[in-house]
Amino acid sequence: LAHMATQSAGAFSTKPTEALVAETEEEGHQLKRSVGLLDLSALGLGAIIGTGIFVIIGEAIGDAGPGIILSFILAGVTCVFSALSYAELASTIPVSGSAYTYAYATMGELVAWIIGWDLILEYGVSVAAVAVGWGQYLNELLDSAFGFTLPESISSPPGEGGTVNLPAAFLVLVITGLLIYGIKESARANTVMVFIKVGILLLFIVLAATVFDSGNLKPFTPNGFDGVVTASSLIFFAYIGFDAVSTSGEEVKRPGRDLPIAIIGSLTVATILYCLVAITAVGALPFDKLKGAEAPLANVLDEGAGYSWGSTLISIGALIAITSVVLTILYGQTRIMFAMSRDGLVMPLFSRVSEKRRTPWITTAIFGGLIAVLAAVIPLTEIVKLVNIGTLFAFILVNVGVIVLRRTRPNLDRGFKVPFVPVFPIIGSLLCIYLMTKLDGATWARFAVWLALGLVIYFAYGRTHSRLRRGDIKTTS
Ligand code: ALA
Repeated sequence: LAHMATQSAGAFSTKPTEALVAETEEEGHQLKRSVGLLDLSALGLGAIIGTGIFVIIGEAIGDAGPGIILSFILAGVTCVFSALSYAELASTIPVSGSAYTYAYATMGELVAWIIGWDLILEYGVSVAAVAVGWGQYLNELLDSAFGFTLPESISSPPGEGGTVNLPAAFLVLVITGLLIYGIKESARANTVMVFIKVGILLLFIVLAATVFDSGNLKPFTPNGFDGVVTASSLIFFAYIGFDAVSTSGEEVKRPGRDLPIAIIGSLTVATILYCLVAITAVGALPFDKLKGAEAPLANVLDEGAGYSWGSTLISIGALIAITSVVLTILYGQTRIMFAMSRDGLVMPLFSRVSEKRRTPWITTAIFGGLIAVLAAVIPLTEIVKLVNIGTLFAFILVNVGVIVLRRTRPNLDRGFKVPFVPVFPIIGSLLCIYLMTKLDGATWARFAVWLALGLVIYFAYGRTHSRLRRGDIKTTS
């Protein structure tokens, strides 16, 4: 039976999980349940493997030295605890919106808004950052394959020798079109790209292993344990994306079973691949030659293993990898906005779904356009740390959300349960806090400004338009 929530809902009222699920059936806001387990796992790997392993690893090696593998392990372990929490919440509340929606069900509207705003930072800004790397690799490929490059002025952002990064903007716009066209087509395209990029990384591991020299691993941690942890807080970026799986909750055929498998499975595969790539890379080439390199994996194959076609291969791998990251994370961004709009916290047009294609085309077009502009003008490096801090913060709230929902709604049907609650989510949160403390003051300051801006928007718009606060939320009893 449907009834209305109380009129006295405030900033800390939570949204009943039953209402969250009931809303997915609403006319005009219904997404299509068409994604199966293979496409879903590919969505996770699509979002995970990208700029982190192809580009940022070089900068992280600068901090950690050959001990970079320890940095990957630390960041991977941090993510595993949070992935378990994502898996539990996704299987319990299988609707669009991921951490935003979970926070709404567990900690109330204000926290949900903060996390939703924070996720725009994680998803929207990282898509732009990742697309920037695409422009760089396109030039690298054109150069190694055809001997020409696009002029710097139209292929790099201001501050890095250019005026506008057209390839990055072009990529975002093409992907936007695909996402509007259809979720099934997008998922298929992504699955193909994931097979190719995983294949290229496997080939890299095999080729680099043939010239492995343990002498290159000494000194193992030139900057001590501190260097390892600092590198970990940066390379954490490479793992971001397994959480994007949970944004698709509403479009999955068997959410209770498939969401946990895809979240944990994609993270496990990526962690194993990353550790192997890291150890074979530093074993094949002395680490000071990789320090801060723009295309570190290409250097390993060219200089370390002597394969002159190495840079062509890695450029193709990076281009495909980045394309699928842009596809999957932009997808995640639109589903979060969709959920926030359906709740009335942002304008209703963001949750309108096209009748024919059943995709939220307006929000996809608006975000695709904005991110394309951002991708055309921002440089990569500093943005990565900002994305990391925002993501770590989201992970903490998801871990806390598991503990809260176990207390407030112990009897909900959970497709997957985190073992040893509250110990595991607490360890997960502490690891996230630990990595956050390793990010610099400027990153913290930018993050604070972003959150403050979000609060202004909430109090100016969301608070008065919230459907929960207006008593307009249906629930079943
Ligand atoms: N994990 C994604 C990447 O490395 C964001 O590009």
